[in-house]
Formats: sequence, structure tokens, C-alpha cells
Amino acid sequence: MKHIKLLLLLFVISTQAQQGGMWVPSLLNGMNESEMKSLGMKISAKDIYDANNSSLKDAVPHFNGGCTSEVISPQGLILTNHHCGYGAIQNHSTVEHDYLQDGFWAYKMEDELPNKGMVVTFVVRIEDVTSKIMEGVDALNDEAQKQKKIQENIQLYSEKLPKESWQENKIRTFFDGNQYLLFVTETYKDVRLVGAPPSSIGKFGSDTDNWVWPRHTGDFSLFRIYADKNNRPAEYSKDNVPYKPKHFLPISTKGIKENDFTMVMGYPGRTQEYLPSFAVEQIVNDLNPAKIEIRDAALKVQDGFMRKDQAIKIQYASKYASVANYWKKWIGESKGLKKSNAVAIKQKFEADFMKRVAKAGKQAEYGNLLSEFEKNYAAIKDYAVARDYFSEVVLRNTELLSFGFKLYQLEQVYNSKGEQSFNDRKNNLIASFEDSYKDFNAQVDEKVFEQLIQLYATKSPKQFLPSSLENINASSLAKEIYSTSSLTSYAKLQELLSGDAKSVIEKMNNDKGFQLVKSLADAYFEKIAPTYNELDLKNSALQRTYMKAIVELFPNDRIFPDANSTLRVTYGQVKGYAPQDAVYYEPVTYLEGVMEKYVPNDYEFDVPQKLIDLYNKKDYGTYAQNGKLPVCFIATNHTTGGNSGSPAIDAKGNLIGLNFDRVWEGTMSDIYYSPDICRNIMVDIRYVLFIIDKYAGAKNIINELTIRK
Ligand code: ARG
Ligand code: ASP
Repeated sequence: MKHIKLLLLLFVISTQAQQGGMWVPSLLNGMNESEMKSLGMKISAKDIYDANNSSLKDAVPHFNGGCTSEVISPQGLILTNHHCGYGAIQNHSTVEHDYLQDGFWAYKMEDELPNKGMVVTFVVRIEDVTSKIMEGVDALNDEAQKQKKIQENIQLYSEKLPKESWQENKIRTFFDGNQYLLFVTETYKDVRLVGAPPSSIGKFGSDTDNWVWPRHTGDFSLFRIYADKNNRPAEYSKDNVPYKPKHFLPISTKGIKENDFTMVMGYPGRTQEYLPSFAVEQIVNDLNPAKIEIRDAALKVQDGFMRKDQAIKIQYASKYASVANYWKKWIGESKGLKKSNAVAIKQKFEADFMKRVAKAGKQAEYGNLLSEFEKNYAAIKDYAVARDYFSEVVLRNTELLSFGFKLYQLEQVYNSKGEQSFNDRKNNLIASFEDSYKDFNAQVDEKVFEQLIQLYATKSPKQFLPSSLENINASSLAKEIYSTSSLTSYAKLQELLSGDAKSVIEKMNNDKGFQLVKSLADAYFEKIAPTYNELDLKNSALQRTYMKAIVELFPNDRIFPDANSTLRVTYGQVKGYAPQDAVYYEPVTYLEGVMEKYVPNDYEFDVPQKLIDLYNKKDYGTYAQNGKLPVCFIATNHTTGGNSGSPAIDAKGNLIGLNFDRVWEGTMSDIYYSPDICRNIMVDIRYVLFIIDKYAGAKNIINELTIRK
């Protein structure tokens, strides 16, 4: 009995330990494949990635650069998140036709809506090109020169390595510069909106529920890829035809239960799992707090306007959501890092690291790494904080300043490249500003400016501030700028940019808004960026060696490369979790929970009448389990930003859900993954089908799918 208990315990520990990691799909043979099979997977590594035959990876394109999608029909229908299609849905919306509020459904293909600039990218094959990229690098001594050589090799081999004319070669670094992989890709450029639920379903719970479990959001939207007559990528044309995929995902409505195997494929953006403790400390103590405070102020102002004015609500919806998203994430991340003692755990790892360095007789190579890191992170601190202020206040959250910064760059183009380049850039800017100003409200921005410039002037490290920010009165500065600057409207900006280079630059330099941006940008480029970049380069070089050392000295650890927006596979099991004493979260939510959260006419928790009716009649079609309609579920898949829209796949390769978020207590997983509390959140595919079928009545869409009951 005792033995059995012990064995069981060991088994639990070892399956627990087998969690986490984002793996390269072409390298799953061996350790990953056997782990996946031991967790219940029934398909093989070759079914997931195969360079020569169709495989799962052919059904999982990168969606518009930042999200993931999956092909779910033989006619190029793809599924992604509502929040990934949000910008497009917003773009087609007006106060009269508000698809954000009411949803959108194309009941026939002619009604699908084209989206200028939207693309999806498939991975055709993956190859290791490390030795090619490292050619001639080791012979160089200087880090900057090494980096330059690597960039040259990347450029060279991207052009030289074989591919079809409509394909692209992309070379990306793995393990911080210790490995280089080539991705041959195909990018489709005609992607049309097919369907989206109303925000009261697709964004149910909005920012209050964002990053939170239990969750009840139907976070999905549907698009279709169009191709030319040869099934190749083509710009939008009404003659294009639906794309015929190499593989599309069949859907299973059999349902899930705790401990079932799940796998998520997608394009995770960025993780930093191997940072030294000093870096993590800085994130928790200095960088996150500064960024959180800035965004907090900006969001409060925007929220106040959005709640009062429907037009502003539409204008700012997408921007607000994206600023709010990372604001909240950083709060959760800092909390989680503190609660899980990530810094102490890293320190313990570092002590072990030093022992192993000594034992392996590698002091000369690796012995100084950690002390160098410590010195560098101390030296970079003020520069890093100041850099975050500049990027959060000027580039990201005050629109007038971010527009002004584009003009600042325009002036630089003139100074470095002359009139012709100036004119080219100017004309591009005039075209792209048209869209930016469509969603700009000077009144809102003025109030944001007032708050943020005050923070900048008082909280950013003093030694780097330009004189323009000394002893300012934020509200009179705001008035002065917003009542006179040409940056406050598209018409005035066009006027400002008319004429030859000399006169445009003269006008710009007389503009109060531009003057302020210029003083801030000059201060940034003179006093902050050079030292920051120098120290950052040193840290990258250290990180590369540290990574190499970890792989070498911890041969039995499961070491995966940090996310870098390339295609990855992560796997785990459906599992609840215990975030605090006496609390256990079940892994599945149901429509009952939507109704529990329902607040009539609320900004975030309203529920459409039609959904209430279906709930009252329990009219769930074939999508219910034991009389209840599943909505979302969680599992131990290790995901990050970019995995939104990723397919959740069962043991047999069927689609069972759609990834869209992580749980609050585990948002620190980008820096420190803990299998105890890190969970990814998915919409159950049955909820998606129920909404398409019973809520929207879009049988045309259902009929395209392969559903396994
Ligand atoms: N937190 C999820 C992700 O990082 C969902 C974001 C949706 N945006 C929002 N503000 N609710 O993308
Ligand atoms: N919501 C994220 C995304 O948009 C996913 C995550 O960060 O967990 O990619």
C-alpha cells in the first residue's frame, strides 16, 4: 500500500514536471513525442509536422502578424479570436451598422467583407541553418561586429536558400543566438470577414474578466482566405476564390474532462524564461510599476469619455482594449512573480549553476556571467526606466506626441537623405495618418496628455529630462499645445505638410506640439538610447552565453527556446487549480455562469436577449453535455501573447477549443512558468458552434465543417 502511494506520488510529480514549454514542431521526435504519448496523445510527431505530407501545421497560419488562426473547412474558412478580429470588425462598423455591438454574419460568400492589409501566413517547412548563419562569426572578437556579421548572413541566406517565387524565407534565432532556424512561408493577402458574435458574447466580461478565471467569453470570429486560380497568394480581387488548404481541422464535439490530453499550436510572441534574478527583480520593482502607473492614468481618462459617448466608444474601443490588456497583465505578472517567489527561485538556480560551473571546470568560460549580469542590470536601471517612460508616454499612449514623433523622424530623413526621400516619406505619412486620425479625438487626447506629461516630468529619472519639462504646469501646457498645434486634426496636419521640404520643416519647428516632441526625442536619443543600447547589447551577449551554459550544464532539464513569434507546440492536460488556501477552480465553465454574471445594459456584462431565450429554453442543439452548455475550459498548456486564436487540439488531432487567454494567478508564465497555477483559457468549440448555429442561424457555416460527434 505504502509502495503504491509512493509510486503514485512519484507519478504525479513526474507528470506535473512534464508541463510547460513551447516546442518547435519540427523537433518533437524523441522526448516530446514520448511525453505527449504518455499524457494520452494518439497521433504521432509526424502527424503534427511533416515537411513532405500534409500535417497539422498546414492548418495553423499566423493571423495578421500578432495572433494565430486555424483552417476549419476545405474552403479556407479560418477561426480566430474575437479580439484578434476586433480591429477589422471595428473598421467595418459605424454608429448605424455597429458590428462590434451587434455582431456580423455572412450568410453567403458574396457578403464576406474584405480587409485592407490583413494577411495570414503558413509555414511550409522548417530547417536548421545554424552553421550557415555562424559562418565567420566566431573569428570576430567584438560583439557589435559579431551581430553585424550574423545579420549579414541572415540577409544572404534568406535570399540564397531555395524557395518558390511566391514564398518567403525567414530566419529566426532560438536560444538567444545559439540556434538559427529557417522558416519557408506563404502569405495570403485576401482575407475576408465571415462572422463575429456581438461583443456581449465575443468580449463578454471585457476588461473586468480579462486575464481571469472563471471565464465566460465567446472570444471567436471567422474569416476566409482567398487565393488566385492556382491557389496561390494574391492581392484582393473579386475574382479570387476560396483557398483550398493542405489540411483543415476536423472538430470534435465529444467533450472534455479533467486530465484529458490537449495540445495548442500557434505563434507565441515573446517569453523570457531564462532571465537572471537581477533582471526579474528590475521588472517587478522598477519597470512594471512605471508602465502600470502611466497606463492606469491614460485608461481612466479614455474610459470616462467612452462611457459617455457612443462615437468615442467605437473610436477608442480597439486602442483602449490593447492598452488595457498589457496594463492588467503587468499587474498580474508582478503579483504572480512575488507570490511564487520567482526571484528567490532564480537565485537558488543561480547558486546551483555556479556549483555546476565549478564542477565542470568551466570558470574561465562561465564563472563571471552572473556577476557581469548583476553589474549590467544595476547600470542599465535608470536608462531602462527612462526608456519605458519615453516609449509609453510619447510613442504609445499620447497620440499627439506619437504623431509628432513621426514628423520628427521625417525631419531626420530630410537631414540624412535629402529632399526626394523626404517627399516619399511625407506622402506615405499623409496616407497613413488618414486612418490614425479617423480614430483620434483631440479632446480625449488633451486630457490624456495632461496626466501623462505630468508623470513624465515628475517620475522619470531627472538626469535625462529636457529643459522643456522642468517645472511645468501640465494643464496650461496642454491648453497651449492643443489650442495651437496642427497635430490636433488631419486637415491641419495636411496643411502643415504642404509645400517643399524647407517650408514644411520650418512650419513644423514653429508648432508647439512638434517642439515638445523634438525636445523629448532629442533628449532620448542623446542621453538615454546610446548607453541603453550599449548595455543592452552586453546583456544580450551574456544571455547568449548563459543560455549555452544552461543547456550544457543542466542536460536533464527540459529546456525549450523562448517564444519568438514562430510556430510552436505546447501540450498539457485539462486541469483546475488552487490559487489560494481553500480555493479550487474547476476547469470548465457553463452557460449558467454567463447568466450568473449577467447585468442588464451593463458596459461589460450585458447578455443578448436571444441568448437568454436559448438559455431559458435550454435550446442547445447537439452542443450540450449532461444538459449543460460548456463555455470555456482551462489546461496546463504553456502559452503567451500571440497564442490567441490558437487551436486547442485533442489526442486525435481534432479541434476542441480556441485559446484566448491565461488565468490571473499565472500571468507571470512569460518569465516564470509554474505548473501549479499557470493555465491557458480556451473557448469550448461547442460554444462556438452553438453561437454560429443556434444564435446566428448561420447553417451555411456549419455545413462547411467536419464535425465528429
Ligand atoms: N488577455 C487576452 C490577450 O492577451 C485577451 C485580450 C483581449 N483584450 C481585452 N482588453 N479584453 O490577448
Ligand atoms: N490573450 C493573449 C493573446 O492575444 C494570449 C495570452 O497572452 O495568453 O495572444
